[in-house]
Amino acid sequence: MNIVIIGATGGIGKCLSLELSENNSLFLGSRNSDSISELINSEDIGSSVSGSTVDVTSFNQIENFLNQANDYLGSIDTIINCAGSLILKPAHLTSEEELEKTFKVNVFSCLGLLKYGFKFMRKNGGSFLFFSSAASKVGLKNHETISSAKGAISSMVVSAASTYARYNIRVNAIAPGLVDTPLTRSIINNKLSLDYSLNLHGLKRVGKPENFTPIVKSLIDVRSDWITGQTISVDGGLSNVKSM
Ligand SMILES: NC(=O)c1ccc[n+]([C@@H]2O[C@H](COP(=O)([O-])OP(=O)(O)OC[C@H]3O[C@@H](n4cnc5c(N)ncnc54)[C@H](OP(=O)(O)O)[C@@H]3O)[C@@H](O)[C@H]2O)c1
Repeated sequence: MNIVIIGATGGIGKCLSLELSENNSLFLGSRNSDSISELINSEDIGSSVSGSTVDVTSFNQIENFLNQANDYLGSIDTIINCAGSLILKPAHLTSEEELEKTFKVNVFSCLGLLKYGFKFMRKNGGSFLFFSSAASKVGLKNHETISSAKGAISSMVVSAASTYARYNIRVNAIAPGLVDTPLTRSIINNKLSLDYSLNLHGLKRVGKPENFTPIVKSLIDVRSDWITGQTISVDGGLSNVKSM
């Protein structure tokens, strides 16, 4: 399978890139050229892997990046977007700039990938996989900005799944709970925040990037060609399980 992964150098994206490179050809992207080169040249990654820098807040860069990906891979079967952000602030302390930045990296990126990725899947079908968040499913304090952006992704997924169904293009999302990655380092390294967060998760554990490999492999598998328009929780019970 020919797979594009954006946010490939982050916690979840890097783990997916390493695992998926075993049996697939990959084209990887993120903003930092050194991290991309380091990953592509790592001895732990498969041989059919290339990549380039991309800032997915820019439609122009998304278009160029996907053209490069298609040139390298020959065709594109799956696009996975692991770029995203986290902002924990109540609405009354959130600036317009922070709101705009959050929507650009989380929501505009997915729309841009649909917009410019469609043409590569139009003939033979394919799938898009985005990252929403448990914060869009359950009320968590100070998550107004990120939960509205991640909720927009889940809403986009149902509509895009409908729009592109006739092209045999599937669109799904995964909604993580708190996962130990560079994105959440400040929460995980602070005992008070970590204990508070652990108590919100039914399983009383934070997630690991490896927890996403089985579901991602399954969702992009052609044998899952009857799954579309879904946002699947991988969240240790954060969105729906109470254990105290
Ligand atoms: N970790 C969690 O607890 C958690 C919870 C809920 C949802 N999620 C979502 O899951 C996804 C993966 O999260 P993660 O924890 O793996 O994040 P992460 O460790 O921060 O990795 C994010 C990746 O995206 C890249 N990136 C960021 N902004 C970008 C941009 N504008 N253009 C292109 N690439 C960009 C980063 O590299 P550069 O900075 O070099 O570009 C990095 O490779 C995100 O959508 C996140 O919102 C995570």
